[in-house]
Amino acid sequence: MATQLAFDEPANFPTIEAARDAARTCQRCPLWRDATETVFGEGPEHAGLVLVGEQPGDQEDLAGRPFVGPAGKVLDEVLTEAEIDRAKVYVTNAVKHFKFEPRGKRRLHMKPNAGEIQACRWWLDAELSLTRPKLVVALGATAAQALLGKAVPVTKLRGSVVERDDGLRIFVTIHPSFILRIPEEIDKQAEFRRFLADMREVGRLMG
Ligand code: URA
Repeated sequence: MATQLAFDEPANFPTIEAARDAARTCQRCPLWRDATETVFGEGPEHAGLVLVGEQPGDQEDLAGRPFVGPAGKVLDEVLTEAEIDRAKVYVTNAVKHFKFEPRGKRRLHMKPNAGEIQACRWWLDAELSLTRPKLVVALGATAAQALLGKAVPVTKLRGSVVERDDGLRIFVTIHPSFILRIPEEIDKQAEFRRFLADMREVGRLMG
């Protein structure tokens, strides 16, 4: 039988593995109903660097792992070029269930709303309290909202570090799927280079 979680208190899991296990049965918001499974973060428990995306996409929902689909390929490419080893980074999402709208055989991504982001923040806080990173990268607006507790202008804050009241340092940048949505190849490449410059700065901040 699943243990009752005290959601009104901060999470107190001994390990990431224990948190991941508990999150499998999460029903804090209705997104669990249609998703295949909870897609929890992955990576070393004491990673100095944590990357936070929005929510799992279609492929992540099926694989049960974050950033393994098209946006994950862009992320992998930029991490490789920035010489950041993904195996040493903890990668997660603000929201841990795939939110979508069925369209024929396809499942179209839908943006999580403020309530869903807030409900899932309990898990993100649990991951951050266990990993205790030196730096967290907010990949896009949803991640920035989850990490900073309010909607913020990503275009303005992009490339900068915002320090939270608890001292946690958040580096804000775009979501890799933004690059995938750019129609013109030349613009796509320019945006990729900007994303790469952001991630090189992350590498520099990590020392
Ligand atoms: N987009 C995200 O924000 N996270 C994933 O894991 C995949 C796509």
